[in-house]
Amino acid sequence: MARLTFAAGLALLQATSGNAFIAGPVSAPRATVAPVTSASEAEALLEAKSPRLIASNATGAGALGLGLVAGAAVALAGATRRSSAGQGRRSTASAEVVARKANPTATFETTMGSFKAEIYLDRVPITASNFIDLCTTGFYNGVHFHRVIPGFMDQFGCPNARDPNARNAGQGGPPDGEFKNLVTGATERRSNGGNIKDENISRDTNAPGTLSMANTGQPNSGGSQFFLNVNNNSNLDWFAPGPSKHPVFGKIIEGMDIAVAISKVPTRNDNPKTPIMMKSITIS
Ligand SMILES: *[C@@H]1O[C@H](CO)[C@@H](O)[C@H](O)[C@H]1NC(C)=O
Ligand SMILES: *[C@@H]1O[C@H](CO)[C@@H](O)[C@H](O)[C@H]1NC(C)=O
Ligand SMILES: *[C@@H]1O[C@H](CO)[C@@H](O)[C@H](O)[C@H]1NC(C)=O
Repeated sequence: MARLTFAAGLALLQATSGNAFIAGPVSAPRATVAPVTSASEAEALLEAKSPRLIASNATGAGALGLGLVAGAAVALAGATRRSSAGQGRRSTASAEVVARKANPTATFETTMGSFKAEIYLDRVPITASNFIDLCTTGFYNGVHFHRVIPGFMDQFGCPNARDPNARNAGQGGPPDGEFKNLVTGATERRSNGGNIKDENISRDTNAPGTLSMANTGQPNSGGSQFFLNVNNNSNLDWFAPGPSKHPVFGKIIEGMDIAVAISKVPTRNDNPKTPIMMKSITIS
């Protein structure tokens, strides 16, 4: 923390202790918190099962400000999209239809509103098929967002977070089992605690609005947890320098304002004070 500016340090203190409290193993939370590396490096590692948090001053006041700007820009983009759709700009509209037909759409119904995302089945078939299987089997229904940080992201998908106050929220994953690869038809596996194979084949960056896999920081440790980026978190790309490796598997195409609103709710140790529940995720 010594390297951080005051404002950044304050925000980080909150973020770091929050992560340890919410998601860290109860027995030794501090031991799992990795040291700050370099100021320009990773903001934070989005960890599913043995959380660490790597932070730089980018997570501080500047990032919070960016979050507000991003929120406004997204609202504006939403309004523009709606009005251009209303005016029937044909070429753009038909291009969008083609893009959406190529990949499935997930519709998220939360207690704060709904949003839709394109799921990148064409780019990361195993990761996308895993997500779609968890959606269609109802795995995510009744789960709460367990870690939200304004100007950064909303983390979701831990089965322990069916209880919104669970101390072990952030440490769970799906059961071991099989699911179908929707592109090849092959049978894929979740194993060693519900983990899927890393699929670092697509170079989609952790841009605002993208969905990205949480993991433990170890290879092949993604399961059911993922996060919604509400900022440019390109330092989390698996192909960026630094320790954070989070593959993107989708992008919000409607209702980004809801994802941003979720990131800004009042929290206690990054956990929303008023629980935000996923009612359903449907795939079409
Ligand atoms: C904070 O980050 C900026 C640019 O990212 C850098 O120039 C500055 O030295 C950093 N400050 C500290 C205290 O690390
Ligand atoms: C993914 O990255 C890991 C670690 O960087 C590497 O070991 C693995 O071979 C990569 N997998 C693919 C499919 O590129
Ligand atoms: C995110 O920030 C990086 C580093 O400043 C920049 O290179 C990249 O173009 C940005 N990506 C987006 C989607 O804005």
